[in-house]
Amino acid sequence: MSGCTAPLLSALTVTLYCAVVGETKFTMSAEQEVYHAEENSNITMTWLFPFDTNRPPDFLQIELINVEKKTRVSFYNSKTGTYMYPDENYRGRLQCDPQLARKGRVECLLTDLRLNDTGTYHCIVVLNEEASSKTCDLNVTAAVKKPVAERSTPVRSGRNGLYAVPALFIVAIFVLFLL
Ligand SMILES: *[C@@H]1O[C@H](CO)[C@@H](O)[C@H](O)[C@H]1NC(C)=O
Ligand SMILES: *[C@@H]1O[C@H](CO)[C@@H](O)[C@H](O)[C@H]1NC(C)=O
Ligand SMILES: *[C@@H]1O[C@H](CO)[C@@H](O)[C@H](O)[C@H]1NC(C)=O
Repeated sequence: MSGCTAPLLSALTVTLYCAVVGETKFTMSAEQEVYHAEENSNITMTWLFPFDTNRPPDFLQIELINVEKKTRVSFYNSKTGTYMYPDENYRGRLQCDPQLARKGRVECLLTDLRLNDTGTYHCIVVLNEEASSKTCDLNVTAAVKKPVAERSTPVRSGRNGLYAVPALFIVAIFVLFLL
């Protein structure tokens, strides 16, 4: 899939680079097209792009965009070698590994998931004079209520009660039999 044809408003950077540079020459992929996770849990989203580790790039830029909210959630530039997190809704919860950028891997850990993290995430990579992009979807669902520990007490006593009934019944029959 060519990043140049991505029908997304947020792909402005790619469109710009494509217009300047021409066609994209590399293809990105997402490790998973759709990620499913529960509220309050963590998820790692991963994208891959071909990378010649023997030839360090002159320029590498990685941008991660929340498509629905049209905000940039992380931004990497090889000049600084670090990721920035411009969106305050993600700051402190999103952690992308800068060490992996130079291995052709975009790996971002999003912690403490919220229902409104659900959406499409668009990863745009500019490598030297080429650009490519790939989206993936994140689907955060409400956490399933787990049985509360306190509840086990009445359940157990209830079960004891259940055993007591046949025991009483047997004793009653025994007594009747003796009479
Ligand atoms: C999520 O990640 C945070 C920070 O790394 C960690 O403290 C927490 O235990 C993780 N939660 C789960 C459910 O794995
Ligand atoms: C997303 O939900 C959290 C609470 O779960 C809230 O604090 C935050 O403001 C919401 N963000 C947006 C952009 O609606
Ligand atoms: C999210 O997952 C739920 C349950 O698996 C599904 O019903 C829903 O259609 C999914 N939503 C999106 C936007 O993928």
